[in-house]
Amino acid sequence: MSRKPVIAGNWKMYKTQAEVIGTIEELRALVEGYAEVEVVVCPTFTSLPAAANALRGSSIGLGAQNVHWEEEGAFTGEISTEMLLDVGCQYAIIGHSERRQHFSESDEMVSRKLQKLIQTPLTPILCVGETLEEREAERVEEVVLGQLERALAGLTVESVFRIIIAYEPVWAIGTGRTATPEVAEEVHSMIRGWLSETYSEDLAGGIRILYGGSVKPGNVAELMAQPDIDGALVGGASLDSQSFAQLVKY
Ligand code: PGA
Repeated sequence: MSRKPVIAGNWKMYKTQAEVIGTIEELRALVEGYAEVEVVVCPTFTSLPAAANALRGSSIGLGAQNVHWEEEGAFTGEISTEMLLDVGCQYAIIGHSERRQHFSESDEMVSRKLQKLIQTPLTPILCVGETLEEREAERVEEVVLGQLERALAGLTVESVFRIIIAYEPVWAIGTGRTATPEVAEEVHSMIRGWLSETYSEDLAGGIRILYGGSVKPGNVAELMAQPDIDGALVGGASLDSQSFAQLVKY
């Protein structure tokens, strides 16, 4: 089954509204109409309306970096799926390792977010990945599949089909230390194998699994050449429109 590649830029806590608009305008000029790849930008919450405006009529998708599982209520500082849809979002990243590490986001919270997202038109980008300590202790399979199993618990096959998975080894994020294509492929193929056993071969063959962690124009092609790597979730190298465009045109 052919899977459309996804290149998603996670802009984290960078860029003002004006900077977001500027980068999007440059990016549009560079990659608009490049239909082979699904391109997504994920700016901060405060820039989402400006980004949606700058993306009007564009094939580039808009995503948020986080979301809450409740529709509304007394949850100071949080944003709901409805609010994301209201400003024109189509994707939401959940379970990013920076959320897990610095904001104590648990698998249970990630699972609730996923349960909520799949009831909406938003496409979840679910992040999983092991720390260096866990890799050195040879616990990659247990950690990654455990995170997936707990996040996907209770979802139907049809719902899981709608998810984009991002494998992001924590030791490779923002460190300049990319997993080699072989190391990444090993985990991607393990995830796909698990999806096939747990759900169906069809689902495993159709779902997109992105790699994330120090992806750059210089290493994207060899990562994308791996059979089970269907795209990239990119932080640092997505901040600059030229480098982002190079990633899209890998
Ligand atoms: P990086 O971040 O590309 O800067 O390593 C990736 C991510 O956190 O999604």
